[in-house]
Amino acid sequence: MLQSHRSDKLQSACFLISKQTAQASREMRQSNRSKNPASAPRKKAESFITGEPGSHAAGIQPDPGKKKSFADNKSLHVETRSDAFKDVTDAEIGNTALIRCRNLERVAGFRRFYLKFEGQNPTGTQKDRIAFAQVQDALRKNFETVTLATCGNYGAAMAFACSMAGLRCIIHIPETYHTARTREMTDLGAELVRVYGDYEKSVEISRAFAAERDCYDANPGDMNTALQLRAYQEIAFEIHDALQNAPGYVAVPVSNGTTLAGIYQGFLSLYRKGKTSRIPKMVAGSSYGKNPVISAFQKKLARCADLGPDQIRETPVNEPLINWHSLDGNQALDSIRRSCGWGGYASDQSMLRFARLMRDKEGLNVLPASTAGLIAFLDLHTKRRLPSGCCVIVITGRK
Ligand SMILES: Cc1ncc(COP(=O)(O)O)c(C=O)c1O
Repeated sequence: MLQSHRSDKLQSACFLISKQTAQASREMRQSNRSKNPASAPRKKAESFITGEPGSHAAGIQPDPGKKKSFADNKSLHVETRSDAFKDVTDAEIGNTALIRCRNLERVAGFRRFYLKFEGQNPTGTQKDRIAFAQVQDALRKNFETVTLATCGNYGAAMAFACSMAGLRCIIHIPETYHTARTREMTDLGAELVRVYGDYEKSVEISRAFAAERDCYDANPGDMNTALQLRAYQEIAFEIHDALQNAPGYVAVPVSNGTTLAGIYQGFLSLYRKGKTSRIPKMVAGSSYGKNPVISAFQKKLARCADLGPDQIRETPVNEPLINWHSLDGNQALDSIRRSCGWGGYASDQSMLRFARLMRDKEGLNVLPASTAGLIAFLDLHTKRRLPSGCCVIVITGRK
């Protein structure tokens, strides 16, 4: 009762935005557009984006520091900023290591285990890939402010991406979440709005905020799904480049399902182009009883069904994975089914245990929640005694 009263108060605070303010913001964006029409001649500084004027060779080596100073320079043409931001993205995002884990293989009794170590992204998770893709889109559309909801990792990634592009970043985060990443977000200049409610409520408020204030809505799902799936396809392309083949299995920690569905889409595209002879079986892992994708898979439902919000209890370990409504859940469920994959749960205890194992056996400091895919794969291996093959586990660093 108290919760819902406080929630109403917060919502009215968020929604009490006069029409004038929203209108003013819309007008400002339009006026920025007219100051920066696509047809306007670009400023001379643009020639430095690819190195010294006239020097192609200099342009081949990106200099992220220099590019950033163009990307976040509001006096430059929007296309110039957007080009510079693209260069920063190419230089800094993705291209993460694929690491063979011989000691994990010995423990698990499986022949070829690789980790796709997304911890090498600047803020330590694969979320940098979608944050940079969304900010590129926001820049191109001439927005000055981005809003989103987060449990932690996406917020840190978006705060970083916005700081590189000189955009304002407003992050909605459930009040009860423990993530230590809020400090990082504010240090990067993001503004936090604590929401009295869960992640789904935070998404709802962030979306309404975007509509009211004419801000860029970077939340997963809806019209952002296609762009985010494309950003995550790159993970599949990088795995394929490194192995020169598609692995038999790819195991992924799942919350909204976007990462898993994007990787599947990437392999599907490679297969259709004739670059691989197979599509990996997609294995999804998530927090015990707290994810609609795994629940629908295990109950053999045709589509994801929302769980009861009361069923969801966050802990410092499971926070990145839990939700009662997965925003890209059906895409993930289809990817698991079409690839003849599997979905399994992981308890907090097992995620902590496997994070310790990765540290002790492989010397890697990983985020416990990110071991959920590995745990689901090993569960499948125990049940089915899989013939040895090649399995890639998507995993992230601990921040
Ligand atoms: C580290 C980590 N792994 C996996 C996920 C799940 O990703 P998705 O929401 O794309 O399923 C998250 C979500 O926040 C995450 O932070």
